[in-house]
Amino acid sequence: MHVAVVQTDPKFGEVTANVHAAVNLMQSARADFYVLPELFNTGYNFADSDEVARLAEGVTGFTYHVIAEFARCHACYVVYGFAERAEKIYNSAALIGPTGHIGLYRKVHLFDRENTLFEPGNLGFPVFNLPIGNIGIMICFDWLYPESARTLALKGAQLIAHPSNLVMPYCPDAMVTRCLENRVFAATADRVGEESREGVHLHFIGQSEIVSPSGEILVRLGGEGEEIRVVEVELSLANIKRLNKHNDLLKGRREDQYR
Ligand code: ACM
Repeated sequence: MHVAVVQTDPKFGEVTANVHAAVNLMQSARADFYVLPELFNTGYNFADSDEVARLAEGVTGFTYHVIAEFARCHACYVVYGFAERAEKIYNSAALIGPTGHIGLYRKVHLFDRENTLFEPGNLGFPVFNLPIGNIGIMICFDWLYPESARTLALKGAQLIAHPSNLVMPYCPDAMVTRCLENRVFAATADRVGEESREGVHLHFIGQSEIVSPSGEILVRLGGEGEEIRVVEVELSLANIKRLNKHNDLLKGRREDQYR
């Protein structure tokens, strides 16, 4: 199957323009599965929780309708990050398919000021068994907690969709280890650009990438500029957890020794 990482440059608060810019990029490259950045429709650097509440959307809001129409027309799947308005406000990622909404992930490990803006995720780390393969979802800073990717791998994920808004430089290299230590594919879709609001300046590092279960960087995008890249992956390679005659990666875990 063909996986696309979609690297966008959202303008803060310009939801309609940001969603259409992302869809224009997606129209330019055919794939079975597209991964968009974290909070791709709103931008990231919210001034306060009132602003998040104003820009947050329900699961079937404006953004959903545009992306669902794309997925229907192209018979594909999409994961995108958005501020979700539910009983509380979450930093979420939605999985959309040809027939509409499939599932949701709510970011478990909130980064920095996100802790004052969002409720921590309460849905665990979900894996969706789709016709294209088994897709797990985590968001950005979850990369720094190896438990996130490991939980997804233990639940059978073959590919981790990883919408991101990276500000620290370490994640692109760290994802090589996340893939290697779990024998999974990962597609990290990051954004580029700057956001300077209310005295907080952020630079987003881009470098979206797709990494294989053997830690090979199949594609890594640049640090600036909107871009989309598609890679063909054989997801069944992620089922092979045996390393040699004596080591099976997941079966070899010594849970009794980990506490
Ligand atoms: C992050 O989690 N957006 C750094």
